[in-house]
Amino acid sequence: MATMEQSIIPVKEGDFNLADYEKTAKEFRWEDAEKEFSWSDTGKVNIAYEAVDRHAESFRKNKVALYYQDQNRKEAYTYDQMKRMTNKAANVLKAHSTLDKGDRLFIFMPRSPELYFALLGGLKMGTIVGPLFEAFMEGAVFDRLDDSEAKAIVTTPDLLDRVPVDRLPKLEKVFLVGEDIEETDKIVDFNKHMKEASVHFEPVWLGKEDGTVLHYTSGSTGRPKGVLHVQYAMVQQLQTAKWVLDLKDTDVYWCTADPGWVTGTAYGVFGPMLAGATSLILGGRFKTEAWYQAIEDYGVTVWYSAPTAFRMLMGAGNELIKEYDLSSLRHVLSVGEPLNPEVVKWGLEVFDKRIHDSWWMTETGAQMIVNFASLPIKPGSMGKPVPGIEAAIVDDQGKVLPPNSMGNLALKKGWPAMMRKIWNNQEKYDSYFLNDEWYVSGDSAYMDEDGYFWFQGRVDDVIMTSGERVGPFEVESKLIEHPAIVEAGVIGKPDPVRGEIIKAFVALYDGYEPTDELKEDIRQFVKKGLAAHAAPREIEFKDKLPKTRSGKIMRRVLKAWELDLPTGDLSTMED
Ligand code: WT7
Repeated sequence: MATMEQSIIPVKEGDFNLADYEKTAKEFRWEDAEKEFSWSDTGKVNIAYEAVDRHAESFRKNKVALYYQDQNRKEAYTYDQMKRMTNKAANVLKAHSTLDKGDRLFIFMPRSPELYFALLGGLKMGTIVGPLFEAFMEGAVFDRLDDSEAKAIVTTPDLLDRVPVDRLPKLEKVFLVGEDIEETDKIVDFNKHMKEASVHFEPVWLGKEDGTVLHYTSGSTGRPKGVLHVQYAMVQQLQTAKWVLDLKDTDVYWCTADPGWVTGTAYGVFGPMLAGATSLILGGRFKTEAWYQAIEDYGVTVWYSAPTAFRMLMGAGNELIKEYDLSSLRHVLSVGEPLNPEVVKWGLEVFDKRIHDSWWMTETGAQMIVNFASLPIKPGSMGKPVPGIEAAIVDDQGKVLPPNSMGNLALKKGWPAMMRKIWNNQEKYDSYFLNDEWYVSGDSAYMDEDGYFWFQGRVDDVIMTSGERVGPFEVESKLIEHPAIVEAGVIGKPDPVRGEIIKAFVALYDGYEPTDELKEDIRQFVKKGLAAHAAPREIEFKDKLPKTRSGKIMRRVLKAWELDLPTGDLSTMED
């Protein structure tokens, strides 16, 4: 570790919201942060009220909450306008459905202002909102709506054929965001009713433990799991927006994540809006030039993105950067996958900015381990725990291990943003916790003698590709639905840009030829059945796959073959 010590990147000049990390870490209690919220006086809780209305009723009334831009639209909404639009959305949803407190409302559409109106409107009326990434195909949409017994969905005409209305008896209404919608007893024209709806709406008042968002995420086995977050998460989301994102009233903040993933809700909507910040939302797909242009045009000061995106920008070359004025940037952050020291070095070179890593998960609901602006960075390390969070490396029995030992990255149970439920699956929820004391993340890591945490890998077979979490089991299940495939095993294969890519090993039924056409057909099959990002980039045909005697595909062996590593203990493998 001596070489790492030498490459410490010192703190840059700055007046940071979290000035003294060590002192705060010692003294801070989450209760201290509750005073920020109007409910600490009134007892009336609603995260959308705190994120929007409270600012609309303050000096931030005419401050821009949201800049929105994509190929066709360029708009800005102040906090006051956000209040009106989200009230309208709440009125539309309420008037045209029986949606009530705690009911599940899904939102399945590409980024647009309406997505944010519907999301916050749904929260204002007390529903639990399930945001779905636009790339999901019918099977993935069905699984999520079916499991959570969704009552309504907001989507677009383009995506409607991926919503299997007939197979979802609990799904009462489909709100369509588009032009010239033909209404039926199921289909509601969202935009038409938005125009007519009242701008007044009294938020439905809830308790601190009532649900807010339901994000489905993948594990190594089973179907995707519905991770439920609650109102009280706002305490940690606001506190980290201040301490980690370092948001101030003068900032223009850009989170590049889609609300279909937890980063896009916790730090694309809640954190910044609870802090009363100005956010940029850039719709459409990743494009190097458009991204740099957006930073210049909007004068972005705080930028939260992901290693895959940084690596793609890096790959586009440093010459291009000189064509843009990126001098507004003051604080840059990363999340989702290991942030390579290489990328940190590039950030210093081209932006003269330290890129601050942050570690957390869908299940944690907010940032947990971070490189804070006021702390030196050790490139390759994720940083230190957020004040109020107790992180440790524990063994499989829950014993805390000393510095520099590899083990399970664990968190002391009970932080504000912690998931409260896996939908319909208490057993799965319980399985995350050891001795009712530690939440076990599924990541392996170690902590050095200075208290910095170093990510080592996943304990399970979960794949992180371009920052998106994909469960191998889901992909394998889809693969074996293909008529040619007898069995399938799926692994993450290291990739310099995407972190990992999905590689599938498949065995074919007799009579099928292992051709390139078949590979392409299989890829399309997964793409159409699951999602584009879940389709294997590489497919290899095998006569037979390595399995345990109980019939479980041994992904560890597939990985060892792929990487030319020793296969380890094969005693449980069938002959
Ligand atoms: C998994 C969680 C909530 C953020 C988006 C991903 C990996 C996350 C880092 C990081 C190395 C990271 C872990 C974690 N991960 N951040 N800074 N360094 N790995 O959320 O889809 O729930 O995935 O992402 O493996 O367990 P997610």
